[in-house]
Amino acid sequence: MTGARRAALVTGASRGIGRAIARRLAREGYDLTLTARDGDALRAAAEEFARLGARTEVAVGDMSDEDAVRSVADVHRAAYGRLDALVVSAGVGSSAPLGGYPMHRFDKQFTVNVRAPFVLIDACLDLLRETVTLSPETGTKIVAISSITAFAPEPGLAAYGASKAALVALCEAVNTEVSVAGVAATAICPGYVDTDMSAWMHERLAPTEMVTSEDIAELVLALTRTSRRAVVPHLPVVRAGSELWRA
Ligand SMILES: NC(=O)c1ccc[n+]([C@@H]2O[C@H](COP(=O)([O-])OP(=O)(O)OC[C@H]3O[C@@H](n4cnc5c(N)ncnc54)[C@H](OP(=O)(O)O)[C@@H]3O)[C@@H](O)[C@H]2O)c1
Repeated sequence: MTGARRAALVTGASRGIGRAIARRLAREGYDLTLTARDGDALRAAAEEFARLGARTEVAVGDMSDEDAVRSVADVHRAAYGRLDALVVSAGVGSSAPLGGYPMHRFDKQFTVNVRAPFVLIDACLDLLRETVTLSPETGTKIVAISSITAFAPEPGLAAYGASKAALVALCEAVNTEVSVAGVAATAICPGYVDTDMSAWMHERLAPTEMVTSEDIAELVLALTRTSRRAVVPHLPVVRAGSELWRA
């Protein structure tokens, strides 16, 4: 059965940017499917969003497991029968210099940051296409959280930046295949955002100087509102300061 309310699937929704995006969409009247590995955090988010009037399905899963990724897409379809916004926020980063870089860290970053989004977009594409008929003005949207390091490399972040550049390329390729059918993809590319992931930077960069998760959530909402005629392939979001193209 197809629900009357818009529905979004958000990965990495247990904390940080993904949770802020989910909260913003819940406030905006979306029903949600939330996924991450931490089921307790997802259930707490679901309780919070219920108070905002949103129905929330929790699908606990590890994005490095292809079957788990596909089953998240299945859970969402079964619950709502429509997908207005697919938000891919789950991601991992691991800093180490080149010259003996531990390859298991490279593999992990590419699995979670590139392979899982690829599989999830592939698994959700039919439902995104079908939902265009329910939202003919805006069409449906894919938003993936990439990173400014996709364009502005940093020492120690070669594998992370390469994975995020691949995510940008993936979103751009998706647009060439399906934007004409009303499904548009955007890779948001932030500098440092104040979350658990950037805590290791606190000695060098105060959290108050970082972009906020709510800033990213606001941009995601704006992207869901554009007409299907507009495509934003990627969107850099950098910290205030005299130097623009850096994390
Ligand atoms: N914070 C920054 O400075 C920054 C800047 C640019 C881009 N980004 C990107 O923004 C996205 C969100 O990052 P964040 O700052 O919100 O980080 P975070 O606070 O560390 O949250 C990461 C999220 O990803 C989920 N996740 C990680 N590995 C997973 C796995 N194997 N399977 C399923 N879920 C997994 C985590 O959930 P569980 O642990 O519960 O599984 C969590 O919900 C990431 O893609 C990151 O690369 C972050």
